[in-house]
Amino acid sequence: MHQLVFATNNEHKLRELGEILKGEFSLLSLNDISCSEEIPETGNTLEANASQKSFYIWDRYKIDCFSDDTGLEIAALNNEPGVRSARYAGEGRNSEDNVTKVLHALQGEKNRKACFRCVISLIINGKEYLFEGRADGEILTERRGAAGFGYDPIFCPDGYSQSFAEMDSLVKNTLSHRGHAVQKLVRFLTDDYPYLPNR
Ligand code: IMP
Repeated sequence: MHQLVFATNNEHKLRELGEILKGEFSLLSLNDISCSEEIPETGNTLEANASQKSFYIWDRYKIDCFSDDTGLEIAALNNEPGVRSARYAGEGRNSEDNVTKVLHALQGEKNRKACFRCVISLIINGKEYLFEGRADGEILTERRGAAGFGYDPIFCPDGYSQSFAEMDSLVKNTLSHRGHAVQKLVRFLTDDYPYLPNR
């Protein structure tokens, strides 16, 4: 079976993708290829960061691989925190702090429109393919729900009354930014990949 590295150490993401690609690809983690270095993420865009992580692995290990990068873009905040979503409240701060900072920044703000964007960079035989998924919605005025992670408790997707953190994870995965990007990746790997030259 063809091996594919997912450049992440996030167990949750690895399990999710491993399930989806089961039988078609053997998914390897960074641990599996003995990559213990901190992979740099110094780009100014989600695309640049996803690319940087994938090429870091390709350049050193010459194994087909992919990586993802996600950001929450809030219209009233000039699309902040965007590429800085993980460290919005500062280095060493956690998701709790990030959510608190967003709620504070939007206090009294009527325009609550926001979107999650996820970019996946896939490298097959040195050639890059990008996939994007997005979820549009609104930032709530307070936290709701205990499931999920990150900004889930304050994000309500368009057309739903529940926050991501109030939803069953299966439901969230079908309508989330990452879910959409992963669906595009999987469609590519199952439909187009077998016909790529020199794969
Ligand atoms: P990463 O690129 O997946 O590491 O995500 C960057 C930051 O965006 C994370 O630290 C999370 O706070 C946030 N994030 C990513 N995906 C989600 C999600 O599905 N729900 C809520 N927050 C997310």
